[in-house]
Amino acid sequence: MFSFFSSLLLKLPPETAHAIARFFLRLYQLTQKVFGAYFEPGPYLIKVPPQHDFKVRSRLGLAAGFDKNAEMFPALLHLGFGFVEVGTVTPLPQAGNAPPRIWRVAPEALINHMGFNNVGLKEFQKNLRKYRSWVNAPVLANIGKNKNTPSELAIGDYEQCVQALQGLVSGFVINISSPNTPGLRDLQSVSFLQSLVPILPNDKPSFIKLAPDLSKSEFEELCQFVLNSERVSGVVLTNTSRSLSEIRGFSQGGLSGPPLFATSLDRVEMARAVFQGRKTIIGVGGVSSLEDALKMREVGADLVEMYTAFVYKGPKLIREITKTF
Ligand SMILES: Cc1cc2nc3c(=O)[nH]c(=O)nc-3n(C[C@H](O)[C@H](O)[C@H](O)COP(=O)(O)O)c2cc1C
Repeated sequence: MFSFFSSLLLKLPPETAHAIARFFLRLYQLTQKVFGAYFEPGPYLIKVPPQHDFKVRSRLGLAAGFDKNAEMFPALLHLGFGFVEVGTVTPLPQAGNAPPRIWRVAPEALINHMGFNNVGLKEFQKNLRKYRSWVNAPVLANIGKNKNTPSELAIGDYEQCVQALQGLVSGFVINISSPNTPGLRDLQSVSFLQSLVPILPNDKPSFIKLAPDLSKSEFEELCQFVLNSERVSGVVLTNTSRSLSEIRGFSQGGLSGPPLFATSLDRVEMARAVFQGRKTIIGVGGVSSLEDALKMREVGADLVEMYTAFVYKGPKLIREITKTF
């Protein structure tokens, strides 16, 4: 039923399809709640340095941007994801960029220029308070800065998000790599990370999400910083690619899906060479099958996430992957 439904959604404009999926996922999670569906978070124990471990039902998680407002993660966990990243949330609500802002492109890829449309921290917090007890599995909050916050004040936005959410989530993903908020990717610097470390909680893991478009030396410098910071548990690799969408003639937006896979794999492998097992790597970008997920693991990812393949293939794919992953 889910597969039939997913193929119907692909005939609609992307944002309409997302709104309909959101409606049914919320209905589904309500039904699960009413019938008291049992939920087991194990069996995999993921060791996250320095001492924060996760129990996940599968190593496959949902990447940020699908559940931007933390309102349907119980449904997504029930469908089989082992963990979910909610957000990106920003302190104030914002409408995001003007539509059209998402395009389907071959082969089963997306270009998105959403620009952190979200309900803002207050509503996000409310949603987490409401839904967090419905499921027992890791939920990571992906946090960002508002479009109108100047870069020199960005740290204040991240701090507000951490303060407001630390009692409600299992950990944080610091998003400094979305191509759709002007100046955001400039925060991918050692000096910004130095200012970030003191605001991170020490009783929860935090991960830095990086772009695939950094040069090798920039990327390695940031990984080296992560390796030496006790409060940073690891990295999420990678966000969407601006350069791959530019090659396809798009003057804005970042590309996700299969064409990103080779770059993401390469970044995961590079990070593994720096970390040597001392930090956690969450691999994301173009994972579209069990084979891809295994490949991500092989090159160094402790956990794997997906977004675009879930949009194209629906929940059937989650079940195919998580049977053995
Ligand atoms: C429509 C859309 C919205 C996204 N929104 C966010 C977001 O809000 N925050 C974020 O960190 N990444 C966001 N991403 C990036 C994904 O989390 C992921 O890093 C990227 O899509 C690569 O994975 P994939 O190839 O499996 O889609 C978004 C991606 C898409 C396609």
